[in-house]
Amino acid sequence: MKLVVGVTGGSGAPYALDLLRTLQSLGIHTHLVVSQGAKRVWETEGKDPIEDLLSLGTELHDDRNLAASIASGSYKTLGMVIVPCSSSTLAKVALGLGDNLIARAAHVTLKERRKLVLVPREAPYPRPMLENMLKAHDAGAIVLPASPGFYSTPESVDDILGFMTARILDQFDLETGRMKRWTGK
Ligand SMILES: Cc1cc2nc3c(=O)[nH]c(=O)nc-3n(C[C@H](O)[C@H](O)[C@H](O)COP(=O)(O)O)c2cc1C
Repeated sequence: MKLVVGVTGGSGAPYALDLLRTLQSLGIHTHLVVSQGAKRVWETEGKDPIEDLLSLGTELHDDRNLAASIASGSYKTLGMVIVPCSSSTLAKVALGLGDNLIARAAHVTLKERRKLVLVPREAPYPRPMLENMLKAHDAGAIVLPASPGFYSTPESVDDILGFMTARILDQFDLETGRMKRWTGK
């Protein structure tokens, strides 16, 4: 079970950290790519050295390496998550650009009809971003914005992160145990 995780420069580095820690605890083999934008955001949002994030990928790729395994559809994976997904990377995915490894791997994921989960974060959404979300959706991606629900009555930031991680991994039928599910009661 191999999952590609792209981390780009939207606000929300803790979402990426939480997802990667959870995938590691589940024993999922991850291919991690962290963009230059994400590294810049980490300087603002990351509480620990960036190496803590980078060390969580089973395999780590440089975003400039377009010859990496995950740049080819012949390399099999479960799919890909981009979390957070910046407006810039969203636009590349929507247009089918592949000028860095994250965009190329996303394009490959779509062409192979594998699950591609995009976790955009912006507020408010400008029209180009709304249009690009629709384009990505129509191309087969799942647009799952970083908008945690509160019906699971979170008591901590960790609970909020756990909610997002659980909803992302629900798309791959991976159970995290990190979220109180709505039962109707
Ligand atoms: C502190 C900080 C916060 C940012 N927050 C967001 C954000 O929430 N959403 C977004 O789309 N871009 C955000 N950006 C801008 C992106 O990082 C920038 O557009 C970058 O070029 C994205 O490139 P990438 O997709 O290759 O990571 C932020 C930038 C900085 C420095």
